[in-house]
Amino acid sequence: MGLTYAMIGGGIGAFIGEVHRKAIALDNTASLVAGALSSTPEKSIESAKQLGLPEDRSYGSWQELVEHEPKRKDTVDFVVIVTPNGTHFEIAEACLNAGFNVVIDKPMTTTTEEARELAHLANEKGLVCALTYTYSGYPMIREAAELVRSGTLGKIRRVEVNYIQGWLAESIEKTGQKQASWRMDPKQAGAGGALGDIGTHAEHLASFVTGLEIEALSAELTSFGEGRVLDDDAMIRIRYAGGAKGSISVSQVCIGEENSISLGVFGDKGSVRWSHDNPNDLRVSTLEGGTRLVTRGQGGLSERAAAATRTPPGHPEGYLEAFANIYRGVAELVNAQKSGSVVGPLGQDVPGPAAGVDGMRFIERVIESSVSDGKWV
Ligand SMILES: NC(=O)c1ccc[n+]([C@@H]2O[C@H](COP(=O)([O-])OP(=O)(O)OC[C@H]3O[C@@H](n4cnc5c(N)ncnc54)[C@H](O)[C@@H]3O)[C@@H](O)[C@H]2O)c1
Repeated sequence: MGLTYAMIGGGIGAFIGEVHRKAIALDNTASLVAGALSSTPEKSIESAKQLGLPEDRSYGSWQELVEHEPKRKDTVDFVVIVTPNGTHFEIAEACLNAGFNVVIDKPMTTTTEEARELAHLANEKGLVCALTYTYSGYPMIREAAELVRSGTLGKIRRVEVNYIQGWLAESIEKTGQKQASWRMDPKQAGAGGALGDIGTHAEHLASFVTGLEIEALSAELTSFGEGRVLDDDAMIRIRYAGGAKGSISVSQVCIGEENSISLGVFGDKGSVRWSHDNPNDLRVSTLEGGTRLVTRGQGGLSERAAAATRTPPGHPEGYLEAFANIYRGVAELVNAQKSGSVVGPLGQDVPGPAAGVDGMRFIERVIESSVSDGKWV
């Protein structure tokens, strides 16, 4: 019997829930068998119907799911939480208390304290708590991480992440646009706007690839959109432990930019550069060897990168496959829990609760610095 899962959120009209479902289905990683998919019982049931879920596992609310699902002999192996940020803590806490492994989309919660509580709970109960930091799922990002780990780049001096989009250039939340409305409402999104939405991806990407810890940061947040309380633009300078310097630049008001995320890591022996525009490519430079293009699927890649690849070179993989790689890793962790099977490289690369806590600390410190006019904190 394969793994099964339930989804909370991701109903009719939602964005990322469907991406999760497609990614999980891509490798036949698990089957969706239960759900509380929307914020009202009617919409939840209708959403479940459209997905062909069995009636007795089409729940009107997440509370019902958490109450009834654990009593079943065939209860799910994990629960995917893809609701707006402000609901993550309450839902994940209830799921963990009910004994479910959870996959939570980022940001983990709305405060560091909540994130720490979830991390503690998952740890105490021995449950999987994974975070879908999508960009860490790309094979060439895993290759980059391996090149840093193996010392090919030498001592890291500089880390740059740019993540810019343009879809919030106008205050479309005022028109009721679903995704913008909650993202620009502090009650539903938390204290970070673009910072929480995509800044956390940037922070995680830098940390995943370099393994460096942020020692201090100085930040400036701006709200360009008319009437906005939350930021839609963030410029962050970073001092890493060990002396490396970094910058993270994030914006959702850059007209013409769709979902442009790029990374550069520069050491004293070499560098890696990656861009979401060509995610199958990694540019690697060394002092001795010049610059070479390393491509997904080619021979000689690290075990981590190779494990995250399906098709031969020249047959591009992308966003769905990156998500799917995280889920294949989640399956390895769940199977290890169920039957003691060995956790392979995909499982080892799954972002866990510590990454979620780091993301929340990052958001809070950036805000702390920005309100003090860029003070180093
Ligand atoms: N990893 C990524 O690349 C990525 C991309 C987009 C969004 N996200 C994250 O995913 C989450 C959802 O974002 P989205 O863009 O899909 O939002 P969305 O507004 O499109 O969808 C949210 C869904 O949650 C449902 N919902 C709200 N409250 C609920 C409740 N109490 N019970 C059950 N369902 C409820 C809504 O009805 C909707 O179906 C956010 O935390 C966001 O930060 C991550």
